[in-house]
Amino acid sequence: MAYENIIVETRGPVGLIRLNRPQALNALNSALLGELNDALGVFDLDGRIGAIVITGSEKAFAAGADIKEMQSLDFVDAYMKDFIGDWEKVPRIRKPIIAAVAGYALGGGCELAMMCDFIIAAKTAKFGQPEITLGVMPGMGGTQRLARFIGKAKAMDLCLTGRMMDADEAERCGLVARVVPSQELIEEAINAAAKIASFSQPVVMMTKETVNRAYETTLTEGLRFERRLFHSMFALEDQKEGMAAFSDKRTPSFKNR
Ligand code: HXC
Repeated sequence: MAYENIIVETRGPVGLIRLNRPQALNALNSALLGELNDALGVFDLDGRIGAIVITGSEKAFAAGADIKEMQSLDFVDAYMKDFIGDWEKVPRIRKPIIAAVAGYALGGGCELAMMCDFIIAAKTAKFGQPEITLGVMPGMGGTQRLARFIGKAKAMDLCLTGRMMDADEAERCGLVARVVPSQELIEEAINAAAKIASFSQPVVMMTKETVNRAYETTLTEGLRFERRLFHSMFALEDQKEGMAAFSDKRTPSFKNR
C-alpha cells in the first residue's frame, strides 16, 4: 500500500511511523487511519520488527480527529458506518508501541498516544481533550483511558474544561513515562524501542498483554493470568539462555523461541 498521510521507515528492529499531514497539524482523518492500521499490521507480522514508534512533527503529534471531515456527519451516518470504530485496531497490535510526542496531542491525538503502550514526550508536548469546545466529547477512548491512567480528578478537569496540560504536568500525573529535550525525542524513543526489541519477542509480547490485562479484569484474575504466563515462560529457550547468561556473567543472546 502506498502511503500519503504517514511516512514509514525501519531503524534496525524498530518500525517507525510518522504521521504526516503537516498542513492540518496531523489531524487524524479516515485515510490516515487506514494507512496507520495497515502499517501497524505489517510491522506486527514482520518477525524482524520488535517494537514500533509512532511520532508526529515538532509542532504536532496530532491536533485531533479531522474536524473538517466530521463537521457535516449526521447521527445515522456516524452510527451506521461505526465512525472511528476502526481505531479499535490500534490497541490490538501485539508488539509494543511507543508514542513519541512533541507539540500538540489533542483530542484524538491524545487518545492515539494513550492507545500506545507508553508515551515519551518532548518538553514542548501539550496534551488535552478539547472536544467540549466543539460541542462534543472524546470518542476514541479519552474519557475511559484518561480516567484509568491519571484518575478521575484530572480526567474530569481535562475533558470538562478542554484545557491543555504541558509535558511536566503529564509526567507528574502518570500520563507520560519520560520527558526529554525536543531534539532528543526520536533518538530516545528509538533507543527505548530497540532495547525492547533486543529481548525475547514472545516474552515482550506476553508482558504487554499481561500489563494490559490489569485494565480489563480484577486483581485476582490478573494475578492468575500473570502467574500462568510466567509459568509458560519456562518452556522457552530464551528463559534458559537469559538465566544461563546471568550465571555465566555474559550478555544473553535471545533466539525468540
Ligand atoms: C482539522 C485542523 C485540526 C483538526 C488543526 N487543523 N487542527 N484541521 N482538524 N483537528 C488545521 C487548521 O484548520 C489549520 O488549517 C492548520 O491545521 C493549522 O492550524 P492553526 O489553527 O492555524 O494552528 P495554530 O494557530 O498554531 O493552532 C494550533 C491548535 C489549533 C491550537 C492545535 O489548530 C486547534 O485548536 N486545533 C483543533 C484542536 C481540537 O479541537 N482537537 C480536537 C478535535 S475533535 P488551515 O487550512 O486553516 O491553515 C477530536 C475528537 C476525537 O479529536 C474523537 C472522535 C473522533
